[in-house]
Amino acid sequence: MTRKGSNVTKKPEKRFLKALAGETLTPPPFWLMRQAGRYLPEYRATRTQAGSFLDLCYNPELAVEVTLQPLRRYGFDAAILFSDILVIPDALRQRVAFKEGEGPVLTPIRSAGDLDGLDISGLHDHLAPVYATVKGLSTAIPAETALIGFSGAPWTVATYMIEGGGSKDFANAKRMMWSQPELFARLMALLVEATGQYLIRQIDNGAEAIQIFDTWAGALPETEFRKWVIEPTRQLVERIHGERPGVPVIGFPRGAGILYETYVTETGVDGVSLDSSMPLDWAAEKLQSKCTVQGNLDPILVVAGGEALDSGIDRVLKALGKGPFIFNLGHGIIPSTPPENVARLAERIKSWRS
Ligand code: CP3
Repeated sequence: MTRKGSNVTKKPEKRFLKALAGETLTPPPFWLMRQAGRYLPEYRATRTQAGSFLDLCYNPELAVEVTLQPLRRYGFDAAILFSDILVIPDALRQRVAFKEGEGPVLTPIRSAGDLDGLDISGLHDHLAPVYATVKGLSTAIPAETALIGFSGAPWTVATYMIEGGGSKDFANAKRMMWSQPELFARLMALLVEATGQYLIRQIDNGAEAIQIFDTWAGALPETEFRKWVIEPTRQLVERIHGERPGVPVIGFPRGAGILYETYVTETGVDGVSLDSSMPLDWAAEKLQSKCTVQGNLDPILVVAGGEALDSGIDRVLKALGKGPFIFNLGHGIIPSTPPENVARLAERIKSWRS
């Protein structure tokens, strides 16, 4: 199997990177989306020490510490940079705050005037602490652990920028997309450029793979999915593969359904992260023949624990473990997850023999 991101440099040695290069490993490498976070008491302690959530994201020493916390407990095969997808609007000078118990709050972008207020010129100065975190992590993580850099995909980040926070129906973002197509296209082009530059800098500071989170990909009808999920992602993948050959990219078009297949074919991603709704046998047949798959245990099973958790893990391993595969959840781990259930999951995967 040819791998766009991985076939140009010497063969990778880390298990996570081997799987992304197309190797089938038993047991498969594993990590969990949102593996650093509120379910860990040590995270909550560091978070309190940092002040606000964004203060933590922009404090390299503490951001390195919270990235390492889950690795110490569970020995994941990959570390993911501790930051957030919303540092991009913050760096473009849109006002971003994380309110306790409320999630992100942004001053919404709804008009050409609002968009004119955004400014890419200070991007890298603003994000310098994130680059410092990546650099710190590249020497702090264990030798066998891979370092993942990440960003939000332009569509998902645009939803937060236009809505001014989370949303149930994305009414404002979709209305702009359809009623002010030129304005929306300008915002998306700005995000593609800023995100591309940001990811290249993460790689230059030590990120060995990139994951692009398109959490709200499933909100778009097919035509718009092609235009605003696939096309911007394709541009980002092309830029990374072109400018930093050898660095693999994982895409996470959450909720894409059967469009996952088109997404994989047309974006050129090296790996694809499956949400929990994706049928395993379909994914094995249609996606794993084209790229490495990652996923997709339901995060609530890790809250539930016990035999339900065990059989859920086994089902995923049996269906996807016979090809290039990275074990993960179908979405981020949730704050009420008991840490001992994560330990149970880690042990079960590590002792898996097909
Ligand atoms: O461990 C890791 O995975 C790395 C860090 C990471 C965070 N956010 C930390 C975080 C990553 C990769 C993200 C991605 C992210 N952020 C996404 C895409 C993935 C997904 O979960 O869908 C999205 C949509 C965001 C935006 C975001 N950040 C929201 C909507 C919220 C509030 C909801 C919530 O879970 O609290 C956040 C906050 C956030 N990002 C926290 C963490 C650890 C919790 C903040 C806190 O500690 O108070």
